[in-house]
Amino acid sequence: MGTITQTTRQYVEAHPELKYVFFGGKGGVGKTIMAGAAALWFAQQGKKTLLASTNPVHSLSNLLKQDVFGKPVLISGEEGCYALEIDTKETIEHSKTEIRDKIGWFLKFADITVKAEEFVESATMNPAFEESAMFENMLDLIFRDEYEIYVFDTAPTANARRLLGMSKVYSLWVEKLLKSRGEAKELRKKLSYSRKRKGEEDPLMDYLLQFKDRMADARGLLTDPEKTAFFFVTLPESLPIAVITRFINWFHEFGIPIGGVIVNGLIEKETVKPDSPEFVLNRVKMQEEHMEKIWQAFGDRNRAIVPLFETEVQGPAMLNRTAQYLFA
Ligand SMILES: Nc1ncnc2c1ncn2[C@@H]1O[C@H](COP(=O)(O)OP(=O)(O)OP(=O)(O)O)[C@@H](O)[C@H]1O
Ligand SMILES: [Mg+2]
Repeated sequence: MGTITQTTRQYVEAHPELKYVFFGGKGGVGKTIMAGAAALWFAQQGKKTLLASTNPVHSLSNLLKQDVFGKPVLISGEEGCYALEIDTKETIEHSKTEIRDKIGWFLKFADITVKAEEFVESATMNPAFEESAMFENMLDLIFRDEYEIYVFDTAPTANARRLLGMSKVYSLWVEKLLKSRGEAKELRKKLSYSRKRKGEEDPLMDYLLQFKDRMADARGLLTDPEKTAFFFVTLPESLPIAVITRFINWFHEFGIPIGGVIVNGLIEKETVKPDSPEFVLNRVKMQEEHMEKIWQAFGDRNRAIVPLFETEVQGPAMLNRTAQYLFA
């Protein structure tokens, strides 16, 4: 049996500038409850905290037994702790409008008289569009900078790595666009085609430049090991372990800071007696084997072990109880 060399609490103490905290992992492993527990804990340390869900399938309102949809709401009875479920539909509509504008600008610049609508449809039918819109929304929150700590409960499928990796792809893409746009402008000048356009503003170019800066800023923040930490939640079971093993490798490649691994749902041995039901004894044995793998695979990255509680985790009281283990 291994031991934890650095607890979550010690990790946080060693990173006093920590500001963006993420929880990732396979579906159903306890990401949302860990994010909730962490947010309450940070707020109790005197930091104004936002618990935000970028997960299209929301569960924060259910977790907190409080409606936090669409705008940040103070969690009742918890000073300085706000929660927000991002309104996916609204975000997507907003992004569609934005894209419509940009495509309009582009077509106008290129003197193409086609309705923007068809382009908008094809751009927004892309499955990555929703993710990209959610990512934009997350960045909006971050750049508004109204909180000292942001705890993000990320979607399991729209895996967080892709979300962040996208910022890199965006930058490259914008770089290319800027280049070709610059060339097109030069060409126009040479053909003195643009005489009537002299002094005309180029909103698309301005937008691209702004967007590029924004992405660079985002990447700067989200790859800063002093400010950002991703925690990976796993159960002592093979599939969730495999999933976060993959995540950790990806994140490592991308230079995204890994806070560590949280093991959830371990059955406490003291509660098990030789005459406990067989399925319980078997499960304990299975968990023991997987714990061995967890120590081997994650070693010094293990931060906390949260036991399997007798009930599900709902409401601030249970979240606080979870936090006692998460930040033991
Ligand atoms: N240690 C635990 N003891 C008892 N119940 C738990 C524990 N951890 C999580 N649960 C329960 O398991 C369920 C899943 O937890 P949670 O919603 O946090 O997972 P998730 O990873 O966010 O899932 P999803 O991938 O669907 O978003 C919830 O009902 C939660 O209350
Ligand atoms: Mg969840």
